[in-house]
Amino acid sequence: MKAIELRKKYLNFFENHGHKVIPSAPVVPENDPTVLFTTAGMHPLVPYLLGEPHPQGKRLTDYQKCIRTGDIDSVGDLSHLTFFEMMGNWSLGDYFKHESIEMSYNFLKDVLGIDMDKISVTVFAGEDQIPRDEEAADRWAEMGIPRDRIYYCSREHNWWGPAGETGPCGPDTEIFYDTGKEKCSEKCSPACSCGKYLEIWNNVFMQYNKTKEGTYEPLKAPNVDTGLGLERVISLLQGKNNVYETELFLEVMNTIENLSKNFSIQSARIIADHLRAAMFMIVDGVRPSNVEQGYVLRRLLRRIIRHMRKIELDTGEITTLVDVFVNITKEMYPEISENADTIRNVIVEEKNKFIKTLEHGEKEFVKNVERAKQEGKNKLEGQVVFRLYDTFGFPPEMTAELADEKDMTIDMESFEELFKKHQELSRAGSEAKFKGGLADHSEKTTAYHTATHLLHKALQIVLGPHATQKGSNITADRLRFDFANPQKVTKEELQKVEDIVNEQIGRDLIVTCEEMSIEEAEKSGATGLFASKYGDKVKVYTIGDFSKEICGGPHVERTGGMGHFKILKEEGVAAGIRRIKAILE
Ligand code: ALA
Repeated sequence: MKAIELRKKYLNFFENHGHKVIPSAPVVPENDPTVLFTTAGMHPLVPYLLGEPHPQGKRLTDYQKCIRTGDIDSVGDLSHLTFFEMMGNWSLGDYFKHESIEMSYNFLKDVLGIDMDKISVTVFAGEDQIPRDEEAADRWAEMGIPRDRIYYCSREHNWWGPAGETGPCGPDTEIFYDTGKEKCSEKCSPACSCGKYLEIWNNVFMQYNKTKEGTYEPLKAPNVDTGLGLERVISLLQGKNNVYETELFLEVMNTIENLSKNFSIQSARIIADHLRAAMFMIVDGVRPSNVEQGYVLRRLLRRIIRHMRKIELDTGEITTLVDVFVNITKEMYPEISENADTIRNVIVEEKNKFIKTLEHGEKEFVKNVERAKQEGKNKLEGQVVFRLYDTFGFPPEMTAELADEKDMTIDMESFEELFKKHQELSRAGSEAKFKGGLADHSEKTTAYHTATHLLHKALQIVLGPHATQKGSNITADRLRFDFANPQKVTKEELQKVEDIVNEQIGRDLIVTCEEMSIEEAEKSGATGLFASKYGDKVKVYTIGDFSKEICGGPHVERTGGMGHFKILKEEGVAAGIRRIKAILE
């Protein structure tokens, strides 16, 4: 079975069990300021998992494009990927453990034809206030999994979430496939990471919301959130022990091998994995930079270049590899071929930038390694790491990797100190975002959300109806809004826009929300950038007599308390697209 068929089968199965199919959200969360990338299928659904009604009902299914940067160092092994596809089904206060386990079992057995003798499961062993999950264990046993393949594990293994510091979470049950490898010890179990057991599906029974204070509030209605790893399942269905041998990667791996003069499978996997992830980031608007998502993209691209050089693969061939991916993905991810030119341009530009200084940087690196060794040290000073970063564009993680090859480490702490001193927008700041917790829809971000609607409308009034939304990103400190406009917006125009927004805030307009069909929403004159994403029924937010937009929310109740709106910056981000950064003070 090919990956694309697996996806179809999954969505069909859950559709036949009363689920509505919803589309994948972008890899960059649209309105969640607390994380850089979408890391799980539940991520775009957080408000609904916390109790907001979803326009499509209580049973949902989708495939979600995910990026996990925490696993970057594991890439190169058999199962970790930076970009992967997670298929999922959700119950928003509808079915719970009983049905969820039954559907998972039947899907694996009847639809995929998996040999269920190879399946083991884990369930939560319980702790202080949370009981052992006998309900899940009993259900697995009823379905036919023998008791000796039902393992009880601690929180470390069988508790999921929240994705950040706050948000929905709960005990889970995980499904493992026995790869047939020897047990690594007597005690070897699915909880072991030796590679015998491959985790393929996780069913989370979300019963709690973890608050900022660290307490667990029971959710009004418990949910089910599941995630099935497409790449892992497709590998096992095809009898391969890793995804690089499936149609998702094979041609790229072969091309790398053919073009390389000093092939290493690990480097080839890193190149292929990182390039695939980079391409999806670029499609969703990420560009290399020194902050946030842009920095992650830069790190990936630079690591690719380094590994290409390591295996003696001409870096100019990076576009060949891009083209092979474009070809591989054209049916499954048409957004890649639709954006192929942009992808190529962004990657080539970053490559050229890096190549210019790479050789000098490598010389500098070797010099410093030699000096340190002569001095009997096995740690590179923070200052060296910083110079390599600042002058030669070496991400510190890359320097660490290079150092490791020479049996050395780097002084990351002193690098960070120097970095903070030199950089206003420190990378540490953006990493804190990883940890910041989900669904932190604080008052401030909610106000920015509403300000975005006011700004959108004001731009259309001042510049014309062509000035439609092309992207939006909100943090607790500012909003960023991309819109269509052929040229720079003048100072006078920006002033007008600012004045209009402040006037509407001053009018203390009431914000209301209605659910309706897309057709009704369009008839009512609502604008809606992401309309198609929500399917039939959508939410329309109306701000007094001023703005009407299709949107998932949340928004303030009245505009009065939002503060004073101020535009800080206007700049171009792509041909015909401008970006505004603004704050509420
Ligand atoms: N959200 C769960 C996971 O990521 C399904 O494993």
